[in-house]
Amino acid sequence: MPEADVSKKEKNYFIDTPQKTPGYFLKGCGNLDWGMKHRLAQVFNPVSGRTVMLAVDHGYFQGPTTGLERIDQNIVPLIPNCDALFCTRGILRSVIPADMTKPVFLRASGGPSILKELSNEEIAMDIEDAIRLNAAGIGIQVFIGGEYETRSVHNMTKLVNMGMRYGIPVMAVTAVGKDMVRDAQYFRLACRMCAELGANVVKTYFVPEDFETITSSCPVPIVMAGGKKLPELDALTMAYNAVQQGASGVDMGRNIFQSDAPEAMMEAVNKVIHENMKPKDALELYKTLKCEKK
Ligand code: R5P
Repeated sequence: MPEADVSKKEKNYFIDTPQKTPGYFLKGCGNLDWGMKHRLAQVFNPVSGRTVMLAVDHGYFQGPTTGLERIDQNIVPLIPNCDALFCTRGILRSVIPADMTKPVFLRASGGPSILKELSNEEIAMDIEDAIRLNAAGIGIQVFIGGEYETRSVHNMTKLVNMGMRYGIPVMAVTAVGKDMVRDAQYFRLACRMCAELGANVVKTYFVPEDFETITSSCPVPIVMAGGKKLPELDALTMAYNAVQQGASGVDMGRNIFQSDAPEAMMEAVNKVIHENMKPKDALELYKTLKCEKK
């Protein structure tokens, strides 16, 4: 028997008011299940609709690349200013404090090093471990046009099947081979394929021409990877242009952790992404913070 309701307050069933059926702020995600939406809302700010993910997964094929030699020293201080972290489970368990409260996207593929053919990857993590680690999402490389294109696409679709089983979103990372042309035509193909085959988020590179055709033809949120280190103004401009042309944020690594002042750069990128700060103003902010933090 349910407990007797002893309240004297008159009940109100709001009979004349239809129940609200809220939509969802992220593109193409309105029909996802509650758990997946809840995880995505931890990563993407529901007010701006965007994210500043900090990508520090490079060691999974590059080893201790510049800026990631000591993640406890170089990266942990940056965590308070990112919306989410993108890293491997090895780094998460060994170095990232478990009392940090930011959501984590876990790198779920691996295999070859920079010494070998990079597209020859496999799924490198059980979904159960992602759940055990309380992952907000999982990420995997997809090599469209690469030597092992089909394998990498199937890795992604298998991961999507696993993610769907437990409500964990999958981010497909469009990896570009050394000999491929990085243009809008290529990224339209790669991003659309990833979304059609089930990726919930697609990470891709910025191209100066027609980037908006990549975002508009991809039915799920796109986040921009930063790529190789650029001068700060160029990196801030690229991030600004990406979100103005439809990206839902960034998943940036080297342009933050290889900067002369990573904490200052992190804050400047945040302003660009969440507050539409103009790149020149963000550069001034970066310079001011760089001096203050010295
Ligand atoms: C590269 O393989 C990794 O997935 C990185 O997470 C990605 O490239 C973003 O980092 P960056 O901004 O340094 O390109």
